[in-house]
Amino acid sequence: MKVYAINGSFRKEGNTDIIIDKVLEGAGSRGAETEKVFVDELGINSCQGCLECRQEGICRQEDNLHEIVRKIEEADAVVIGSPIYGNYMTGQLKILLDRLMGVISRITYVPGGGIKSITRLNPKKRHIVSILTAGAPTPECADDALKLLRRMLGSLANGGSMEEIVAVGINAKGAIVFPREEWIKVAAKYGVQDREAYAEKSMARNREVLKWAFELGQKLAD
Ligand SMILES: Cc1cc2nc3c(=O)[nH]c(=O)nc-3n(C[C@H](O)[C@H](O)[C@H](O)COP(=O)(O)O)c2cc1C
Repeated sequence: MKVYAINGSFRKEGNTDIIIDKVLEGAGSRGAETEKVFVDELGINSCQGCLECRQEGICRQEDNLHEIVRKIEEADAVVIGSPIYGNYMTGQLKILLDRLMGVISRITYVPGGGIKSITRLNPKKRHIVSILTAGAPTPECADDALKLLRRMLGSLANGGSMEEIVAVGINAKGAIVFPREEWIKVAAKYGVQDREAYAEKSMARNREVLKWAFELGQKLAD
């Protein structure tokens, strides 16, 4: 069982990274082989818009994309994470997805409207986990990013599970694991009156996210 994780954040040990690691820890605890990469370190150029991939399923640019496609193809589970930047995913993850679009999937236009992606890769069952993290207190900011991830990654699933984690209310690096004192400081910065209650609520919410991430990881490998 191979789990391949792609982190669209720049921040190592940031919120997205910590949640991805929890999923991988859960999967690892059930014997899965795990690998995580940061998009920023993959050396992926921007899409040049030639549209050749839409016809051939191959990108003619010679960079590390081909290796990433191979890893995705091999994987039994793919985990993709990104912080929300401007109500979307990070630019570098979008660049990767632009490059992958016509290579991992073929787009068809559904009669009556809409787009459907059909896999070009080995159509084996893959479990998919999308992780989005945000400073905003509510999850709507992730809606647009999820729309693209569901369509693209959905084409890889072939009957595998499609899970999503949207962690909100976390801005600072590592806020997902902040202790009470740090949350009290955040509450003070935001002018919150009942700082204890704010800290308690934030910590409880984050604990739930991390517990769920771990359990999801276990489920991937079971
Ligand atoms: C350039 C930039 C844009 C951001 N835009 C949003 C946004 O639109 N909505 C939001 O809720 N948070 C936004 N954030 C906050 C991040 O989503 C948040 O800090 C996240 O936890 C960072 O995850 P990381 O630690 O994995 O990098 C933005 C952060 C940056 C740096």
